[in-house]
Amino acid sequence: MNDVFLQLQQEALAVFLKIQTLEELEAARVEYLGRKGRLAETMKELAALDESARRDAGKTANDVKRTVEASFAATEARVVAGAAEARQAQEWLDVSLPGTVPAVGHVHLTTQAIDEITNIFRHIGFVRSRHPEVDWDYYAFESLNMPKDHPARDEWETFFVGENGEVATGEKGKIVLTPHTSNGQVREMEKGELPIRMVSIGKCYRRQATARHLPMFHQFEGLMIDKHVTVTELKGVFDYFVKRYFGANRETRLRPFHFRFTEPSFELDISCAVCNGTAKVDGAKCKLCKGGWLELGGAGMVHPNVLKAGGLDPNEYTGFAFGWGVERTMMMRSGINIDDIRTLYKNDLRFLKQF
Ligand code: DAH
Repeated sequence: MNDVFLQLQQEALAVFLKIQTLEELEAARVEYLGRKGRLAETMKELAALDESARRDAGKTANDVKRTVEASFAATEARVVAGAAEARQAQEWLDVSLPGTVPAVGHVHLTTQAIDEITNIFRHIGFVRSRHPEVDWDYYAFESLNMPKDHPARDEWETFFVGENGEVATGEKGKIVLTPHTSNGQVREMEKGELPIRMVSIGKCYRRQATARHLPMFHQFEGLMIDKHVTVTELKGVFDYFVKRYFGANRETRLRPFHFRFTEPSFELDISCAVCNGTAKVDGAKCKLCKGGWLELGGAGMVHPNVLKAGGLDPNEYTGFAFGWGVERTMMMRSGINIDDIRTLYKNDLRFLKQF
């Protein structure tokens, strides 16, 4: 019986020596030292021996058990330390290495322009407001002194919203994609908060797609309404914007024009940066402008019918409005010289990354 125990001890110690992983360690513990392990099972056989043989073999069994347990503890210490070391080697990280910089985008140049324009007007008390891009005919045309079927509407090549060739109609007329931001004028007046100093910047849609015209573009609409607002204020605000946005050396001019929703109406011009408003460069005609001026957009004193549509008394309130294209304005300043305006919205990063 003594030999059986000693053989088991030899076998166990040889197995422990080869153990490398935690899994092998656990398997060996169960096999030799577990409750139903080889050592426990062999010890049960002692019961069958007579007393003196049992005492003798029992002593050997206890020695063997102690030796195997001690050897297992040493093996366990070795394997656990080795596993921690292996993990450390695997997870080692050099925190001093330069990281990978994630690609960071930036806002589109039109959005940059919108932010800048909003800021300039904010300095003189204009609050940015938003009005629907899908609106009723009433706000896009009728309330702006353009009755149904009025030929002036033709200038705005309007998209109508509908289904199966039928134009959808709502409570205030046909439904359109706003062809200009002027739909915000009467809507702003209807809020009933006066005085008004609004700048509404939004998308506009027209049935046009050429190198110079986009079916979707942006406008900003200014509206100031109070008691005693005159053309002087219009000119002052226009001048302030132009000098802040284009530079202090730029001059402004109002040129008589006609819009249904303003009276009087103007086109707003700014002096050309290339010839400095002189129309001449080195004695020759300036190639950029017509006579020293560039056209920026439309404006005028809000027509009494428009004020009335907004619920205001034209004898008490007056105001001015203006509407300019964002893309046009920003391209006039930056000198972005692209021969096809559609480039702005082609999402070509080679172009967009430059701004
Ligand atoms: N809505 C006009 C357009 O799209 C621009 C415009 C002209 C706006 C005169 C105005 C204005 O507010 O007073 O062509």
